Amino acid sequence: MKAVILAGGDGTRLHPLTLVTNKHLLPVYNKPVIYYAIEKLAAAGVDKIMVVTSPRQVEHFVNLLGSGQNFKSKNTGKQTQIVYGIQNEPRGIAEGLWIAKDYISNDNCVLYLGDNIVEDDIGEHVANFKDGATIFLKKVEDPVRFGVASVDKMGNVLEIEEKPKNPKSNLAVVGVYIYDNSVFNKMTGQPKSARGEYEITYVNNKYIEEGTLKSVLLKKDWFDVGTSESLFAAGNFMRNKISRLES
Ligand code: DAU
Repeated sequence: MKAVILAGGDGTRLHPLTLVTNKHLLPVYNKPVIYYAIEKLAAAGVDKIMVVTSPRQVEHFVNLLGSGQNFKSKNTGKQTQIVYGIQNEPRGIAEGLWIAKDYISNDNCVLYLGDNIVEDDIGEHVANFKDGATIFLKKVEDPVRFGVASVDKMGNVLEIEEKPKNPKSNLAVVGVYIYDNSVFNKMTGQPKSARGEYEITYVNNKYIEEGTLKSVLLKKDWFDVGTSESLFAAGNFMRNKISRLES
């Protein structure tokens, strides 16, 4: 299983913090945002990662992460191998994944949105993954900010709507997705959404239509640090977590 971390985008909701740097390089307490994604993937046993970012900022990621020499995969104890992909303009999450198509080759993949911090361990879901798609859901108070899943009584996902004005549930789709290799076929002919992006929600709905999308409800904390409020909350959370561990 390989992984793709998306670390592009303009980070406009974080201006002026992101006027001269990238959102994923900002600190969450004692580490840059992107460290949390890499460490979570390494802990899940993934040892090959492509970081997709913009041409203007790729050199900062290379300076910070190099070839992955500071990270080790849990399974093999080997160094995590990090390579880089370039997205010229932020035309959507699905396009960001498409850039990694040749890198993924015939493999399955984890798509990890680099501004997400997930406290649950995802290792068992990566290890047990066979086919289709696995997505993660989290109950939230402000579903309008996210992709929102409608589920039936059995917990099966019926539909996902991207940032709906009138959400049908409080179940947000977390920015971590496990896909089989058919994910790239599902993007063929994909139209841009009304906001002009290639949405990952379109791809997830294709898996739902096919009947191959599974969902897992996260139990622990989850942050999407795309706003200054959530960036601050994530930093506080990590600070308290570390002081608890040290005391
Ligand atoms: O965080 C979870 C949410 O992430 C999901 O619930 C939504 O369904 C999904 O669309 C996404 O929504 P956001 O509005 O939070 O996406 P955002 O534009 O912030 O981008 C998410 C990450 O992907 C961020 O780390 C930047 C990166 N990105 C984004 C775009 C649009 C890219 O690398 N390239 C892009 O073109």
